[in-house]
Amino acid sequence: MTQSSNTTWHPSTITTEGRTKHLGQGAVLWFTGLSGSGKSTVARAVEEYLVQKGVNAFVLDGDNLRHGLNKDLGFSATDRQENIRRVGEVCSLFSTANVMVLAAFISPFRAGRDAIRKKIEPQTFLEVHISTSLENCQERDPKGLYKRALAGEISDFTGISSPYEAPLRPELRLDTAGKSLEACVEEVVALLKASQIISAKATTE
Ligand code: ADX
Repeated sequence: MTQSSNTTWHPSTITTEGRTKHLGQGAVLWFTGLSGSGKSTVARAVEEYLVQKGVNAFVLDGDNLRHGLNKDLGFSATDRQENIRRVGEVCSLFSTANVMVLAAFISPFRAGRDAIRKKIEPQTFLEVHISTSLENCQERDPKGLYKRALAGEISDFTGISSPYEAPLRPELRLDTAGKSLEACVEEVVALLKASQIISAKATTE
């Protein structure tokens, strides 16, 4: 269904290869996991590492996008689906523009994440499951939201009153509990190298 049927697609005159030669590889590194699992913290640290290496990396963060593009959306299943659908469109545009997107969203539904994988150029969508347990996330409770959700003050809270569907075959599963941020960054960087998204020669210093 579309409201804009009388439109035509205007293609770029630059080929993907030409763009990549000049601007570097675009890709989507998709971080999914519970609130408080460490998605944003790891994504920010990887962003800093990549930018210092000259890679045009940029974090799209759930909390941040809900201040603007997605400010009209709540946390019902329908609103979360729309949230992730819009983010998928943004990821598709950014990666086509040769940006290395680091997307950090709870994105609790498998179908939504899989739909984005299908939209992105094969081999350039990497799913990272930040698999920190619900117990650890609740213990950390960095924003005090679990406490409030358990007290019944927040509805549809992931892990408490709304489901989380873990990825079945993520490119990387990373439990941040008891692990330094540096070690987490190293694992993500190793994935980027193994997937030939960045040069195998880059160091994590
Ligand atoms: S998603 O489920 O639609 O992917 P998103 O990543 O955009 O969620 O936003 C999650 C952030 O919103 C959490 O980190 C938390 O700070 C905040 N939040 C507020 N209400 C809820 C809720 N009901 N469930 C989960 N997170 C919530």
